[in-house]
Amino acid sequence: MAIRKIAQIGHPVLRQVARAVTPDELATPATQQFIDDLIETMHDADGAGLAANQVYAPIRICAIEVRDNPRYPYKPNIPLTVLVNPVLTPIDDEQFENNEGCLSVPNLRGMVKRYIHLRVQALDRHGEAIDRVVHGLSAGTYQHEVDHLDGKLFVDRADPSTFATWSEFDRHQRTAFVERARALVARVGS
Ligand code: NI
Repeated sequence: MAIRKIAQIGHPVLRQVARAVTPDELATPATQQFIDDLIETMHDADGAGLAANQVYAPIRICAIEVRDNPRYPYKPNIPLTVLVNPVLTPIDDEQFENNEGCLSVPNLRGMVKRYIHLRVQALDRHGEAIDRVVHGLSAGTYQHEVDHLDGKLFVDRADPSTFATWSEFDRHQRTAFVERARALVARVGS
């Protein structure tokens, strides 16, 4: 396994629409090795998720895992999930204001509207179908990662007047956001 370099905003690979992965390609040792590297890189950087084009491979694979995450301590845990060719479908129109950061956007956070209830369809790393419904902050994490595969960054969707560095977020926005995030999780789960 290897830790890969993470592309930073301004690199064109982050703006590429990633291409679908075929089942045969998914099964190759090279792709399986790539997925191991993606997970290891996500862990090393304390990310809640990481998309393949963030490590310079524009293919439709992303990893998500939240386990008492130090970057986002208020996020409910999500077991390690690898999504291949994911398709997200909102269940209804309800949205919430999520506060997001990104390993490809250094020292910036901002408020982004995300769907609260989301159907997730994908293949897992072994080619088995995933079909689940996710809610709340976890739904926000899925939308952020799949946006990467479509060449989108949270800054494209954020209200620029809410942008903050990580330390100014802590100082001025965190308390109010975490209170609202807790209320959302209590209402809809994760
Ligand atoms: Ni990101």
